[in-house]
Amino acid sequence: MMLSPKQEQAMLLLKNGSLRRLNIFEGSVRSGKTHISMIMWAFWVAGSPKDKAYLMSGKTLTTLKRNVLEPLKALLGDCFSYSLSKKEGELFGRRVYLEGAANAEAESKIRGMTLMGAYCDELTLFGEDFFVMLLSRLSEKGAKLFATTNPDNPSHWVKRDYLDNPRVELLSIRFTLDDNVFLPKKYVEALKNEFCGVFYERFILGHWVAAEGRVYDSFSSENIILAEELERRLSENKLIVSSIGVDYGGNGSASAFVLVGADAGFRNLYVLSEYYDKRNRSAESLISNFSEFVEREKSRFPMLQAAYCDSAEQLLIKSFRKAVRTTGVEVKNALKKPINTRINMLNRLISSGRFFVSSECPRVIEALQGAVWDERNVHKDVRLDDGTSNIDSLDALEYAFERFERQFFRF
Ligand SMILES: Nc1ncnc2c1ncn2[C@@H]1O[C@H](COP(=O)(O)OP(=O)(O)OP(=O)(O)O)[C@@H](O)[C@H]1O
Ligand SMILES: [Mg+2]
Repeated sequence: MMLSPKQEQAMLLLKNGSLRRLNIFEGSVRSGKTHISMIMWAFWVAGSPKDKAYLMSGKTLTTLKRNVLEPLKALLGDCFSYSLSKKEGELFGRRVYLEGAANAEAESKIRGMTLMGAYCDELTLFGEDFFVMLLSRLSEKGAKLFATTNPDNPSHWVKRDYLDNPRVELLSIRFTLDDNVFLPKKYVEALKNEFCGVFYERFILGHWVAAEGRVYDSFSSENIILAEELERRLSENKLIVSSIGVDYGGNGSASAFVLVGADAGFRNLYVLSEYYDKRNRSAESLISNFSEFVEREKSRFPMLQAAYCDSAEQLLIKSFRKAVRTTGVEVKNALKKPINTRINMLNRLISSGRFFVSSECPRVIEALQGAVWDERNVHKDVRLDDGTSNIDSLDALEYAFERFERQFFRF
């Protein structure tokens, strides 16, 4: 088995008995944390009592499977087996429970357990209650916890209450992207270019830093293109997908539609057209404006397939559906992924030169330039939403592209 020098160092800690009660593998993306931590976990379990219970958990069972269980199976073959439906596995003959940590009942599921060991994938995504309960269940003598995480806000409970807490018996092992010598140089360079600002500091350098200043730090005039330039680009590289995001106005907010498109291989994301109305005269006028927008854009961009709408207004969605029935454009609920997931996606596209807005979309441009992190809320990453900046156009834009995360990014 080949290990990077950094991974060798970590392995040595296991061999010479330097592990502690809590062992946290923290740092940049793709830095080899999961790989070495699951190997060390497997070795440690193999050398621990056979009749005790062990637990492996991730934000959800699906992410646990993708990030850890499948790679571990590939590595260990017959020494590891598991069943997601039974939520159980067997690792070197030891019983391993499997649990998702993000849902509300997760905590109650582990309440009665007595554990010898636990493995946690992506710890900052866990509920704090679940983790506190988990620690109380790790009650066997010599019990250990192995966890991986990327850095987050320095006020995150993982940092504040554990990593920075001298009273906790904890070992932290830090990894940076350059520690992973197994990644192709080109891939590492591309990855570094995909992050900017606070995300670069966290995901590339591995630092716990707060988000401040402009949300879309790297958005500049280079991302804004004139209609003729847009046309030229699209004639060279045709759009393969196009969709509309819809956010409705309410008290003081605007109604916004944003049309986006992606070219072959989901290489670039384009903002093609927008609608913005702060007056919100009536539901009827909104419905007819939506239907006009869809008809006009469908004739310009025949691959336009769907509109994704804020799911808060099911009645309006029904009316929208009816109004555009004949165009073939489907009207669906937006996924509404966490705001910071959407921000992260867009920032990665901006930083790597894959995001372009038509100069005919001044509202989207103004919204991207004006978005800032909330300074009164430095303990969490919160995009300011107090009516002073245009969040409606951003929501609509995000609803239009958020579902293509897998297609835009390889990981
Ligand atoms: N020793 C190794 N031998 C071969 N491949 C490795 C090794 N260490 C890591 N890799 C590969 O490098 C990639 C990144 O490693 P890993 O998934 O462990 O990173 P990570 O730090 O957990 O990243 P993330 O924060 O994104 O979850 C994976 O594809 C993994 O298989
Ligand atoms: Mg990982």
